Amino acid sequence: MDKLKQLLLTIMMSMMTAMLTKAADPYTFLDWTVSYMTVAPLGQQQQVIAINGMFPGPILTTTTNRNMVINVQNNLDEPFLLTWDGIQLRRNSWQDGVSGTNCPIPSGQNWTYDFQVKDQIGSYFYWPTTLFQRTAGGFGGIQVHPRSAAGVTVPFGQPEGDYFVLIGDWYAESHKSLRAALDKGNLLGIPDGVLINGKGSFNSTKDFELFTVRPGFTYRFRISNVGIALSLNFRIQEHQLYLVETEGSYTSQQYYDSLDIHVGQSYSILVTANQNASDYYIVASPRFVNLTIYQNITGIAILHYTNSTTLASGPLPDPPSIYDTQFSQNQARSIRRNLTTGAARPNPQGSYHYGNINITQTFQLYNSHPLVNGKVRFAVNDMSYTAPTTPLKLADYYNLTTNVFKLDLLPNKPQNITPTLQTSVISGIYQGFMEIIFQNTDNETVQSWHIDGYAVFVVGYDAGIWTEANRQEYNHWDAISRSSVQVFPNSWTAVLLELDNVGMWNIRSENLQQHYLGQEIYMRVVSPEPSDRTELPPPSNVLYCGQLAYLQPPSPKHHGHSSATDAHSRLPLKRLLVFFHILTWYMLQI
Ligand SMILES: *[C@@H]1O[C@H](CO)[C@@H](O)[C@H](O)[C@H]1NC(C)=O
Ligand SMILES: *[C@@H]1O[C@H](CO)[C@@H](O)[C@H](O)[C@H]1NC(C)=O
Ligand SMILES: *[C@@H]1O[C@H](CO)[C@@H](O)[C@H](O)[C@H]1NC(C)=O
Ligand SMILES: *[C@@H]1O[C@H](CO)[C@@H](O)[C@H](O)[C@H]1NC(C)=O
Ligand SMILES: *[C@@H]1O[C@H](CO)[C@@H](O)[C@H](O)[C@H]1NC(C)=O
Ligand SMILES: *[C@@H]1O[C@H](CO)[C@@H](O)[C@H](O)[C@H]1NC(C)=O
Ligand SMILES: *[C@@H]1O[C@H](CO)[C@@H](O)[C@H](O)[C@H]1NC(C)=O
Ligand SMILES: *[C@@H]1O[C@H](CO)[C@@H](O)[C@H](O)[C@H]1NC(C)=O
Ligand SMILES: *[C@@H]1O[C@H](CO)[C@@H](O)[C@H](O)[C@H]1NC(C)=O
Ligand SMILES: *[C@@H]1O[C@H](CO)[C@@H](O)[C@H](O)[C@H]1NC(C)=O
Repeated sequence: MDKLKQLLLTIMMSMMTAMLTKAADPYTFLDWTVSYMTVAPLGQQQQVIAINGMFPGPILTTTTNRNMVINVQNNLDEPFLLTWDGIQLRRNSWQDGVSGTNCPIPSGQNWTYDFQVKDQIGSYFYWPTTLFQRTAGGFGGIQVHPRSAAGVTVPFGQPEGDYFVLIGDWYAESHKSLRAALDKGNLLGIPDGVLINGKGSFNSTKDFELFTVRPGFTYRFRISNVGIALSLNFRIQEHQLYLVETEGSYTSQQYYDSLDIHVGQSYSILVTANQNASDYYIVASPRFVNLTIYQNITGIAILHYTNSTTLASGPLPDPPSIYDTQFSQNQARSIRRNLTTGAARPNPQGSYHYGNINITQTFQLYNSHPLVNGKVRFAVNDMSYTAPTTPLKLADYYNLTTNVFKLDLLPNKPQNITPTLQTSVISGIYQGFMEIIFQNTDNETVQSWHIDGYAVFVVGYDAGIWTEANRQEYNHWDAISRSSVQVFPNSWTAVLLELDNVGMWNIRSENLQQHYLGQEIYMRVVSPEPSDRTELPPPSNVLYCGQLAYLQPPSPKHHGHSSATDAHSRLPLKRLLVFFHILTWYMLQI
């Protein structure tokens, strides 16, 4: 072959590979309709947010690298917006579904999400981010399965079943009245119960949640705390919990009697039905609260053996001592990454060498709950977030930043400043290695922080105020990487993250009351040489609002989604591929 032919062939091959990779990542098309529904998990009827008539919403089941096209029809009487908690949306913060990235879907209209679950496996959940709606539901589990042929082994045998368990504290009041209370400057009282998959406790309702297991078999339970504020302790009577995964990292496998699950966190455990045929209690009870006052705020479901003839009986399994922060901190430290297994890739995000990377930026984020303009707010370094009407991401793209937000106003550690309302956006240095220390200055409540767009290495937890000397105690070897981290009372948690995902990313309190009242910031990561390789352009159906509302075309009537048309529109790609195939074959012949 002469040089030209060789060159042509190379070009052809690389074009084909590029196209095949895109074509090889399959699509899933879903239609979701969001509407109100009436249920009575705590005995009294209340309005909740259902998706396709389900409360909680359907489990989003997908596979690594799949493209998800989810058309969401909003039939509520107010705007709606979903986020995919823990899904990294690489190069694509356009689909993140938070106030800083997207205009909410107006009442009566639809919007189609289109994102790829790139290089991820594991357990996550989605939830509505606007208007305090998570207190009414609208959430559901996300499970990302590994590709069978990807060459990465799953470090445990195929379980007999795979159950999602969404636990969370719950109020009998509607989200609108809870929201109205917060808007007036009041805080929420104690919740009315803990729901398990949207259902009330075994001992207080006939419609409790029940998981059936075959004796001798092992089941995977994916547990997410989708609640509002309470850290919950999860346990199953007479059964050990074998922890295997958390938010996309395979853990060093070990047994626990019970597991603390903080708001926004997800875990996978394996449970083997190795006890006598019976029914057993599954319990989710609050941590770090006065149990005299919270005694009835306990979620109870049932583990039912197929050949069980006995009802669950005896006392509920004991929780850890309620104020024992040490127990929880030790448990948190014991959750390590399994270094000899991959995740979606053999060596996810350079997990073997993160301990050698030099830190390029440090942020110490202190929580506080000041009064601002006479109202209770929650803040980070004395700045309480206020969302502009124009999403930050759009403002940035259209060069409106100066009238929407000011970059880097938030100090990288607390200064002695008067608390104010701000639209805080920090700059993350692209390809830098950021250190964030979440400092909890409150002596009673556990904080829970979430970072969009990334999984972060959780390198340390300890009591007191963080100082640079604390870096010596970091886990530089097998820290877990995840997207939601807890910060114990009067303690700090340190995380490291490699800023390789361009976009506008939300860093927020997962505690919903604190989130609603301003405890969040955004991080803007830009590439010095912008291109589609580092960040996708805005989607063609992008919604406009705020200062950009004039760009929004009038909404067409929604006629339902047809995947046949989509399949059709992708036909030319297939034809082109066949053409390249023939051409390459031909060139190999000459
Ligand atoms: C609404 O749904 C229709 C199909 O039913 C789709 O063509 C359209 O793009 C969707 N609208 C948006 C803004 O995504
Ligand atoms: C780690 O993963 C390997 C490979 O999949 C597996 O064989 C091993 O049992 C796991 N070890 C622990 C402690 O989880
Ligand atoms: C299980 O059943 C056997 C036989 O009925 C009984 O001897 C044993 O005590 C039971 N074990 C437990 C833990 O209840
Ligand atoms: C339930 O099934 C297991 C496994 O087949 C068996 O060992 C056990 O005796 C059965 N128990 C009852 C009460 O039927
Ligand atoms: C818990 O609350 C009860 C009732 O209000 C109170 O008597 C008790 O002192 C509290 N316990 C703690 C540890 O604060
Ligand atoms: C249900 O069990 C919980 C935990 O033991 C208890 O606090 C509560 O009072 C019980 N409720 C009823 C209605 O029995
Ligand atoms: C808990 O529930 C029981 C049974 O319904 C009730 O008697 C008790 O007063 C409740 N306790 C609290 C603190 O609300
Ligand atoms: C990290 O910084 C140290 C000291 O400044 C330097 O010697 C080293 O080469 C750096 N390491 C990397 C991986 O950049
Ligand atoms: C924003 O400004 C940049 C740099 O001046 C320019 O290249 C880009 O086209 C502008 N974007 C829009 C949407 O006007
Ligand atoms: C937390 O601090 C407050 C105010 O100093 C005090 O009243 C309360 O008892 C403390 N709580 C705990 C659990 O130490």
